[in-house]
Amino acid sequence: MTTDADALLATMAAALAPSTAALHATGKSFREEIGRGLAGRGGSLKMLPTFVRQPRGDERGQVMFLDWGGTYGRAGIAVLSGDGRVEVEREEVFEFSDEDKTASPEHVFDTIAACLERATGRDRITPRPLGFAYSFPARLERIDRAIALPLTKGWRLQRLEGRDVVELLAQALARRGVRNVAVSAVANDTVAALALLTYRARGHDRLAPPAEVGLIVGTGTNQAADLGARGIRNLESGNFAAVTALQAPCDVALDREVGEPPPGVQRFEKMVAGHYLGEIVRRLVTDLASRSTLFRSWTAGALRSPSGFDTANLSRIEADGSPDLSDTERLLRGMGVESSVEEREALRTLARLVVTRSGRLVAAALLGTLSHMDPRLESPHLVAVDGSLYGGYPGYDRLVRRGLEELAGSERADRIRLEFVKESTALGAAVIAAVARDGA
Ligand code: GLC
Repeated sequence: MTTDADALLATMAAALAPSTAALHATGKSFREEIGRGLAGRGGSLKMLPTFVRQPRGDERGQVMFLDWGGTYGRAGIAVLSGDGRVEVEREEVFEFSDEDKTASPEHVFDTIAACLERATGRDRITPRPLGFAYSFPARLERIDRAIALPLTKGWRLQRLEGRDVVELLAQALARRGVRNVAVSAVANDTVAALALLTYRARGHDRLAPPAEVGLIVGTGTNQAADLGARGIRNLESGNFAAVTALQAPCDVALDREVGEPPPGVQRFEKMVAGHYLGEIVRRLVTDLASRSTLFRSWTAGALRSPSGFDTANLSRIEADGSPDLSDTERLLRGMGVESSVEEREALRTLARLVVTRSGRLVAAALLGTLSHMDPRLESPHLVAVDGSLYGGYPGYDRLVRRGLEELAGSERADRIRLEFVKESTALGAAVIAAVARDGA
């Protein structure tokens, strides 16, 4: 490797590895923003009410679910057995194109309603309660009324803001003549994860303590927290903005140039979540290519175009155990890029830096929430976690765990249990629908 590339890589590494003190400060301002948001004094954490109650664990029956919060979604029927078990009985999937992401809400909800119709089968009679996991920011006015706030994760539908997404769905179902499906609850994916884990725990033991936090680290990142008398809140923590001290030059540029969401919005998410990490790595590669001999020949392939490098690639590179990174070589060749071993190693270094930082930032924000609930972290805490980055990147859970230990010390960190809850968005939405049905 040429010395200039070595030096540039070292500079990037330093910029991407915030100090422990800087992360402590981040956790502290996260906690302060929670207080500010709850007091209605503004700030970057919305602390949105959810109207969701923790499950008892004995809810049972057949309910429908709908999971929409990005490119792929699904709808189906789930069965709750009343003992902590909930299973998908049937399901249908849908997928959106890049064009759909800027279309009209009616267009999008027609696609979703068509999928729901397929999932109900021929039955047009049996009334079906539906749990709608809507994984974008929304201001709930009731458990079944969610006013859309500006979308995230690269979406921007025409004239969606200010409209009730439950109503939009009901209208789309009516257009198809589906009248036996009605939304009984709408909830964020973070809330779904939290509710599902509580349902499971209490299904086994009625007195089990509930999950207190729901954490998603996937295409986007966000937390929900059970704040006791203040209810379960959706923090929309992807929008946490006190990150200036942590930003590397590539983050400042990405925030400015990514287009959607606009500059200054979702700043934490832009440094942490799957929608952005591949793009950060691509930008670092392009930067090195323009300033050194490293990666020079790469700019011809897919890595040249914005968003041309998916975050899933980072997981594949991390999983490549071969001495000369031959799977990474195949991956790059598939993108029209010929690479040397040295370049592939440098790519893996960059990927690890970016993902490790993501895990440490997630740990800092989580400690911000937990220390709002329990300032000295004296009690045990249960956190429900899901998301493609957390579940898909090899060792991501360990990165978060190490971040917790780094910031809270191992004794306190040991009291924090993170449980991965697979498929939590769909199953949790079903649980929430059942809780709402029973309470209605
Ligand atoms: C984005 C959305 C948020 C969601 C998260 C994870 O941050 O705004 O509502 O929970 O992604 O899907």
